[in-house]
Amino acid sequence: MLRCLSLTAEKDTEKIADIQRYAEYIDAVEVRLDLCEAKTPEMVGSVVAASRHAGCGTVVVSYRRPQDTADGSPGDWDRRREDLRRGVLRRVLQPGVTCVDLEYDVTDDELREKAESLGIRMIRSVHDFTGIPGRLPEIVRSIAAAGDIPKVACSPQSSRQVLDLVRMCVEVRDVEEKIILGMGAFGFFTRTAPWICGSMLTFVSAGEKKAAPGHIGPRELEEVYGTSRHGKDTVLFGIIGNPVMHTRSPHLHNRWFADDGIDAVYLPFHVDEVGSFMELAETIGVRGFSVTVPHKQRIMDYLTSADEGVRRIGACNTAVRRRDGWHGTNTDLEGFLEPLRDLLAEGRIRRALVIGAGGAARTVVYALRQQGIGVTIVNRTVEKARELADEMGAGWARPEAAGNAVGTPFDLVVQTTSVGMEPDIEGDPLPLLKFSGSEIVYDIIYAPEKTRFLTRAEESGCRVIGGRRMLHAQAELQYTMFRDSCNLWA
Ligand code: ATR
Repeated sequence: MLRCLSLTAEKDTEKIADIQRYAEYIDAVEVRLDLCEAKTPEMVGSVVAASRHAGCGTVVVSYRRPQDTADGSPGDWDRRREDLRRGVLRRVLQPGVTCVDLEYDVTDDELREKAESLGIRMIRSVHDFTGIPGRLPEIVRSIAAAGDIPKVACSPQSSRQVLDLVRMCVEVRDVEEKIILGMGAFGFFTRTAPWICGSMLTFVSAGEKKAAPGHIGPRELEEVYGTSRHGKDTVLFGIIGNPVMHTRSPHLHNRWFADDGIDAVYLPFHVDEVGSFMELAETIGVRGFSVTVPHKQRIMDYLTSADEGVRRIGACNTAVRRRDGWHGTNTDLEGFLEPLRDLLAEGRIRRALVIGAGGAARTVVYALRQQGIGVTIVNRTVEKARELADEMGAGWARPEAAGNAVGTPFDLVVQTTSVGMEPDIEGDPLPLLKFSGSEIVYDIIYAPEKTRFLTRAEESGCRVIGGRRMLHAQAELQYTMFRDSCNLWA
């Protein structure tokens, strides 16, 4: 499978420099003539020479019409400009070019003849920026039957469409030479794990300008996803969420898999509907996944079994495929407790104040109660604090009374709301709360690393704990489960 760098740098000289710069991360180069200053045989000749020098055996030449680009529209693209475009494409073909890309809806006998005379393969491409082509299998077969390489770049708009796309790819899995890629967040995994759709090639872009939605850089593709090392035997893991593209979890899990020498990859799946993702997971063979906002409750409907913590909290952040179905765990629970382990062992924490009464607070309150710690919940919406307190055997207080609700200070204060999280880093969830200096203050927010609330606590002399440790600990626990599941199935 080839990692192909689309040359998108502004200046042609930078495009050539990028080939050298990313040589160790790429196997192929695409020269997009529409993005070149000089649309000349000399420019293409320079790309061929630079690619050869960089050890990249494959050079693809394309010249996109505006309607085949993400930000373009047909505009005033007329017959005359189309003739010019094809003239350029024909003119630049030369020895050293491996493939020329011509859109599926046009034909050009002269271009084909010239390509054949030079031993250059033709890619026939379809671009869909609004959905997925319903006739995809038919298109792929007709292009392949002509001896050309089909390329379909489409834009799944939902988890259901992602499933449809992957199923169509399964239908044409016998067509060996093809490129099928899903653009945007929903299709992102088809770029980082291109073998899932049976693609022989995936595109990357260097620098700021991306050739298409969802492109990442060549270094990220290799260093985070290890794409060149993987293939159809690679075990699949991932994370589902909405949004999910910002997640750092792939950086952690993929590094751990690589360190342990396990042929597995962890991919972000942008999911708007859990049911379709579960069908996808069965179709492509996902073995386990992390679950993030907003799916931690909905995933429960799809579990065959679950830990007690998951059942009591009503939220699951880890699903692992067992032979009889999906098993749910909540590693947030242990992850939250991990930074407190020594303090708990020393008996330093007897009374805790928890700020917030949402999903995250449920986990925190349950974990603390399990440790036998007395908990008081304070929340903006008092009714929710009362409900959670009743359910978990905790107490509650009004925000305005939180500072002096229980006379003696708390040993631990845990902040579980989203107040203070990036980008609104100035927020303070409970300004009325005055610290005595002897409390341990724990904010489960991890971005920023130290919230305003924690800074305020630290300035009062409190020992503080940021959310990074919990994030890391819960991920490590997930990783252990994923790794063990590889052995289970081995
Ligand atoms: P999560 O799963 O991350 O806990 P959630 O279930 O939506 O998310 O809960 C968000 C928590 O942050 C709630 O306790 C919420 O308070 P309300 O129950 O009053 O909504 C709290 N929260 C959110 N924004 C807040 C704000 N501006 N001030 C105080 N509390 C806030």
